[in-house]
Amino acid sequence: MEYLSHNEQETEALGQRLAAALSPGAVVAYRGGLGMGKTAFTRGLAKGLGYSGRVTSPTFTIVNEYEGGRLPLFHFDMYRLADDDALFDIGWEDYLDRGGVCAVEWSEQVAGAMPADTVYVTIARRPEDDRWRTITIEGVELP
Ligand SMILES: Nc1ncnc2c1ncn2[C@@H]1O[C@H](COP(=O)(O)OP(=O)(O)OP(=O)(O)O)[C@@H](O)[C@H]1O
Ligand SMILES: [Mg+2]
Repeated sequence: MEYLSHNEQETEALGQRLAAALSPGAVVAYRGGLGMGKTAFTRGLAKGLGYSGRVTSPTFTIVNEYEGGRLPLFHFDMYRLADDDALFDIGWEDYLDRGGVCAVEWSEQVAGAMPADTVYVTIARRPEDDRWRTITIEGVELP
């Protein structure tokens, strides 16, 4: 499905909606460039899962873990990761087995490591306004 976001709050709200549709072991893989709102969307996922703390970009840590919601959330940023091998080195398969949600920024870097039932969230600019985004969600129906 394709959605239109006019601002950061709407992107976050869509993430919050998606959270309700996710089950243990779900992978949400983002596609879309710098500053599209992947971290904002993930903030919504965390909120929708019932996590109440702060959600920040895992740019320098590769992965941030948020526990305490309906499911744990593992938030990855693959921007600095060389390839699929580097992902397996940080324990990707263990994360998949932990019964949480893995949200993956820059999934293009590790496309071959994404499972077959991955939910893809593609965020693209729109020409009408700097803040507008088309957000395409594939692999699951929103409630
Ligand atoms: N419709 C929108 N949805 C989300 N963010 C928006 C939107 N319009 C403007 N913004 C702004 O764009 C920025 C998005 O930042 P965010 O860190 O979420 O992007 P990102 O895709 O994770 O970037 P990066 O590739 O650097 O990790 C924020 O400053 C936010 O205020
Ligand atoms: Mg980000």
